[in-house]
Amino acid sequence: MNKKILVSGATGTIGSFLVDELRKRNTEFVALVRDDAKAEKLNKNGIQTVIGDLGNKESLLAAMNDVEKVFLLSTTSPQSPELQGNVVKAAQTKGIKHIVKIAARGSAPDADFNIGRWHGITEEEIRESGIPYTFIHAHTFMQNLFFDAGSIEKENAIYSSQGDGKIPMVDARDIAAVAAVVLTEPGHEGKTYVVTGPEAVSYHDIAKELSVLLGREIKYIQQTPEEGHKAMLSSGMPEWLVDDMTLLNKRYASNEAAEVSKDVEKVTGRKAIPLRKFLNDFKNRFK
Ligand SMILES: NC(=O)c1ccc[n+]([C@@H]2O[C@H](COP(=O)([O-])OP(=O)(O)OC[C@H]3O[C@@H](n4cnc5c(N)ncnc54)[C@H](OP(=O)(O)O)[C@@H]3O)[C@@H](O)[C@H]2O)c1
Repeated sequence: MNKKILVSGATGTIGSFLVDELRKRNTEFVALVRDDAKAEKLNKNGIQTVIGDLGNKESLLAAMNDVEKVFLLSTTSPQSPELQGNVVKAAQTKGIKHIVKIAARGSAPDADFNIGRWHGITEEEIRESGIPYTFIHAHTFMQNLFFDAGSIEKENAIYSSQGDGKIPMVDARDIAAVAAVVLTEPGHEGKTYVVTGPEAVSYHDIAKELSVLLGREIKYIQQTPEEGHKAMLSSGMPEWLVDDMTLLNKRYASNEAAEVSKDVEKVTGRKAIPLRKFLNDFKNRFK
């Protein structure tokens, strides 16, 4: 009987937490990984793997043997619609019964930011495929704060062009927890869950919490959108992503994305993880 779940993105942030959640639930799953070295690492932890790439259609068909449900996640890039489209087409061929896709808050085929539009294109393709689906629209991950570890260490400072605006950042563990429930329990087909943290926080709040956590003052240095754009470009981020982040930060600065969703609690039965707990749990990443 086809019972297995195929987990893509299992080596990434959400995927590695999802794998833990699925193991706790004693669910049969197989992680799609791109090479032997990655497979070996997961195998050592008792995780079954299959080698494949979203760019290789044959590998996807083979990976979906004896698979019933697919967890769809990959790095977002201009190639995402094509790569994730390959998964949808393979899933159609193999008669997959449920696709659970990670997307971003505000995703839609006509979204005005690249990430949202690329996710929206794939979601449209999934809808049109007729395969039952669940979409998980995640807000900004708390784990993105790991990128600030360098300036925290060197300058006791965090930088952003989000002004005084607040957003309900979400711990990726909550996204994984929602995905695990959706993949293993009935009743989630056709739904889109918006996954946020339990409270909207500003960079002032983050700096305050980091100061308490680290026992020294961490300053929040506000950037203009132009300064933020320049800094992100010089850090090596691709231009399309810098443009997206500049647009989103302007929106966040004016509190246009501050709404807290209750979907984590609705789906998992427990409250979403607050910023303070996230920072405490990952204290080592900021030292
Ligand atoms: N960061 C945020 O604040 C945020 C907010 C909302 C939504 N999102 C969405 O979350 C998703 C990213 O989640 P994440 O941060 O957990 O991912 P991640 O840590 O960036 O990991 C990406 C995963 O995708 C795999 N992958 C990439 N290209 C692949 C390919 N061609 N074939 C097979 N596997 C491939 C990677 O495998 P390898 O190990 O082989 O590279 C890795 O496991 C994106 O869709 C993004 O738009 C992010």
